[in-house]
Amino acid sequence: MNDMPRHVRIVEVGARDGLQNEKTIIPAATKIELIDRLSATGLRTIEATSFVSPKWIPQLADAAEVFTGIAKKPGVSYPVLVPNLQGYERARAVGAEEVAVFAAASEAFSRKNINASIDESIERFVPVIEHAQADDVKVRGYVSTVLGCPYQGEVPVADVVRVASKLHALGCYEISLGDTIGIGTPARARAMLRAVAGEVPRAALAVHFHDTRGQALANILACLEEGVAVVDSSVSGTGGCPYAKGATGNVATEDVVYMLEGMGIATGVDLPALIGTGLWLSGQLGRETSSRVARAGV
Ligand code: HMG
Ligand code: MG
Repeated sequence: MNDMPRHVRIVEVGARDGLQNEKTIIPAATKIELIDRLSATGLRTIEATSFVSPKWIPQLADAAEVFTGIAKKPGVSYPVLVPNLQGYERARAVGAEEVAVFAAASEAFSRKNINASIDESIERFVPVIEHAQADDVKVRGYVSTVLGCPYQGEVPVADVVRVASKLHALGCYEISLGDTIGIGTPARARAMLRAVAGEVPRAALAVHFHDTRGQALANILACLEEGVAVVDSSVSGTGGCPYAKGATGNVATEDVVYMLEGMGIATGVDLPALIGTGLWLSGQLGRETSSRVARAGV
């Protein structure tokens, strides 16, 4: 076991992963207000939107309007998802300074989610990363379905290691390992993390757990014990991928912050302000928050 980190950087994905699965189109002004409220909580990385095909993700067709409308707070990064060069160019046209590319460890999920094989998707990222390096734009890389796939079931750990190390070698500064359908349990999460850490430095790894089966906090803890210090989460526990059957919300940021701060691990996040933002968002979405901490109060 490695030393537990003393600080954790939270990557807030609520405005992107959290909203992409919402059926009713949310006004751009609401998305902008969400991101501005999140910026005021002390979060340093807030994924803002996706420049994917609007036919595939209609909810985020307003990506340019949202990205342009947010009040960018100094010291906060606002990465955006891009699936290809077209997405990268759209993102750059509105001034994005950090992008995220996303590949899958499962061949079946890759086809459903981005209409390409894993290798084809990685080929598409090569020019994106080359342009980004020339433009001084940071690139984060996601690997989805790292603990199981809704279409092919088991995902061999060797496939996760291969995709993660390929993205890292291409120039992604950080690799976020995604349990897209929230199927993992702590021992498997730890084993997967250790295998990836054999090829990619631990300092370049992040974890991204959906909480479909209530395992996310336990899985995060197992990965923190392995030295991971970057955790993706979504305010109010919103989230899911329309192309991953059964994928429900991301782990709630409120619950992650509560756990970490309770263990003496600093996040820099103002928990009451975050809870207020999550409750405001669940009001906008017309349903109860998924954050246990917000429901119980601190
Ligand atoms: P495709 O249909 O194969 O694309 O989609 P294409 O290259 O054949 O182009 C078809 C049309 O799409 C063309 O327009 C293109 O211009 C347009 P037409 O000529 O028909 O009018 N197009 C675009 N338009 C705007 N922006 C673009 C873009 N690219 C093409 N960037 C594609 C391939 C990858 C584009 C599509 O499958 C796609 O956008 N998929 C995105 C799906 C998605 O966003 N999924 C959720 C995010 S992943 C996730 O949630 C997991 C994660 O959270 C981690 C985890 O939980 O594990 C990250
Ligand atoms: Mg996700």
